[in-house]
Amino acid sequence: MSEQIKLYYKNVTADIIGPEHGITAEQFNLLAEKTTVLVAQLNKQRKQGKTPYRDLPYNQAAINKVKTLAAALKDGCDNFVVLGIGGSALGNIALQTALNPYMHNLDDKQRKGARLFVFDNVDPAQLSSFLEWASDRLDRTIFNVISKSGETAETAAQFLIVRKILFDRLGPAGFKNQIIATTDLAGGTLRKTVNEAGLRNLEVPQGVGGRFSVLSAVGLLSAAVCGIDIDGLLAGARDMDKRVSDTDLFANPAAINAAINYHYYNRGRRISVMMPYCYALKDFADWYRQLWAESLGKANDLAGNEVHIGPTPVKALGTTDQHSQVQLYREGPNDKIFTFLQVENFAAKLPIGPAPEGAPELGYLAGADLSQLLNSEKIATEYALLQDKRPCLTVLFERVSPYAVGQFIYLFEVTTSIAGALFNINTYDQPAVELGKEATFALMGRKEFEQIAQKILPYVEIDQNYIV
Ligand code: PA5
Repeated sequence: MSEQIKLYYKNVTADIIGPEHGITAEQFNLLAEKTTVLVAQLNKQRKQGKTPYRDLPYNQAAINKVKTLAAALKDGCDNFVVLGIGGSALGNIALQTALNPYMHNLDDKQRKGARLFVFDNVDPAQLSSFLEWASDRLDRTIFNVISKSGETAETAAQFLIVRKILFDRLGPAGFKNQIIATTDLAGGTLRKTVNEAGLRNLEVPQGVGGRFSVLSAVGLLSAAVCGIDIDGLLAGARDMDKRVSDTDLFANPAAINAAINYHYYNRGRRISVMMPYCYALKDFADWYRQLWAESLGKANDLAGNEVHIGPTPVKALGTTDQHSQVQLYREGPNDKIFTFLQVENFAAKLPIGPAPEGAPELGYLAGADLSQLLNSEKIATEYALLQDKRPCLTVLFERVSPYAVGQFIYLFEVTTSIAGALFNINTYDQPAVELGKEATFALMGRKEFEQIAQKILPYVEIDQNYIV
């Protein structure tokens, strides 16, 4: 197997799970007719600048800016803290889990760069615990506040907490030294603050939504500071770009991935489970969950019809969730499609020790590498699912390298674009997230949102008649 990741799709075909559950050659041909047109349209839209996320791996000026800043931080930063949420955090977490050792933060010998901490929530106990630990390390801790809009309440609150601590402990100069902002070039409160305070900053490129932004400064700075090879990552993305621009369904892994998911959605398999058999890839299942859900879950299609469409993404981890979910996956409703992530060579080899004399029945494990057990369990689980006619896809990794991960990111981003085109919806907006954001502003007393505050009132007070 080469360093190119591959999508294996035989286990969704009628040959394997029968025509009642699988996809026939005729059905594939019909899907090919659709996707050929749509991929050509997407290629055209990309040339017109309508999907700028597609060009992030080529934006050398932005990449150089990230590298220059990462190099400037190298000697003075032991701890790199991301304050952000959603698309401003999930990619950062996924890159770290995938490409740095499990003990990166704790073991200085395994660490190739700064420790990474990502706060994508506003739980006071969690953040306080960190701030207590960091309090006598503040001068060696960089806080990267990331918000494309520059308006998100969670990120703003985290920023204000950290800002006060830095001012109190290190003074205005210290505040300026320890904060880096990543935000929209022109709009938003965070950009205003950046300009007023003269903070070091990077841009979230225009037209790139949070969930498509991991290959911009949003994801690249923390990766570079924490020792990840961002050149390898971007080279992988560029490699995948060629493959996912192909208008031939059978040569384009994103088109075939999107087409299969779309096909099954229309046959009632509306839940899409991503199940890595590799701990390093587990947070990419989380990243995918946001990408798929926010992009494809829409009330209206492009013609304005009410459609309430969208496959539900679910994350699971092999083998952990075999002992939690597989009973349901096999015997519960046949309403899911499974995407496994499988790795041939892991970052380490770990042979299993010999069986004790008194337990010769464990001898079957002795001497095997632990990855052999993990990959056998993947095959075994897939086999079991196929016996129950559950469609299964696998993304095959030769190893989890920056180059492979860059391909994976780009593959699933473009898969999402093609799936959005098949569903005929706007892939890039998230109107339903806005009302919750506005209601939060209203509840927290933000002036322009007083009207919403009135509407929320009936939901604020708990009706004691319904408490048991
Ligand atoms: O994908 C998206 O657009 C969202 O998930 C955003 O990333 C998230 O809401 C955070 O927004 P912002 O980066 O503007 O703070």
